[in-house]
Amino acid sequence: MSNAILAGVMGWPVAHSKSPLIHRHWFERYGVAGDYVRLAVQPQDLEQAFAGLRALGFCGVNVTVPHKQAVMALVDRCDDLATQVGAVNTVVFHPDGTTEGCNTDVIGFLHNLESGPVTYDKPVAVIGAGGAARAVVAGLIMRGCGDIRLANRTLEKAQKLRDDFGPAVQPIPWEARATMLADCGVLVNTTSLGMDGQPPLDLSLTALPQDAVVTDIVYAPLQTPLLKAAADRGNTTIDGLGMLLHQAAPAFAAWTGVEPVVDDELRRLIQGSI
Ligand code: ATR
Repeated sequence: MSNAILAGVMGWPVAHSKSPLIHRHWFERYGVAGDYVRLAVQPQDLEQAFAGLRALGFCGVNVTVPHKQAVMALVDRCDDLATQVGAVNTVVFHPDGTTEGCNTDVIGFLHNLESGPVTYDKPVAVIGAGGAARAVVAGLIMRGCGDIRLANRTLEKAQKLRDDFGPAVQPIPWEARATMLADCGVLVNTTSLGMDGQPPLDLSLTALPQDAVVTDIVYAPLQTPLLKAAADRGNTTIDGLGMLLHQAAPAFAAWTGVEPVVDDELRRLIQGSI
């Protein structure tokens, strides 16, 4: 396997990561010699582990919880989206020896959302103000959304997003999360509420227009209680698995030069592992 591509995902914990399945599928499909491994790295070991990757022959890594912010201090530079979001999920080791931190979650979110009948000319409702919300908001702003209603249990965190991303972000108190849905064209849940083992998101959809698209970043289960409630009343729904698959594609392309396709075969493969 000389010249084989070696990549991986650094996280703690990382045993649940679906990324090896995704990237190995593409290595095989495109006939690229390579492998993608899980790298269980504790926070206190991040710097040393990261420093050793090039010597081990890696061409890059994905970075997941809890390292997405910390790795920003370890790379030579960050691309614009990573800087804007304040998090890196993909590192590229360039042939000139430099390392670049990128954020492909933004593109992953947009490409997944755009698999549905989405337009950006109406207000967008976002639930949550954590790391995932920052990627979602960066994407919406990239698409020109000027009215992003962002409801969070802790209002100060929503206000921080307005400070960071500008007046397109309108912080909404948690108690007003249902009424803010009026006139919205898109609703996004960026919290982990609705994930297996978590309580569902408590949100009445009564005010949401029937033609709004509803999406969730949670993909286990594929149909979260939010998506089920939305589908039951006739809204188009887009599950979170597509975001996972679409964020992996630019990373694979950066490391191998091959633009991989996110298709039903890959979806079924990952779906079967959830
Ligand atoms: P991530 O990086 O995955 O987005 P995070 O930064 O921990 O994770 O953010 C989690 C988000 O889920 C936050 O918006 C959080 O609200 P707070 O800012 O008030 O903590 C939200 N969240 C988590 N549990 C919640 C709950 N039980 N009710 C409402 N919001 C919740």
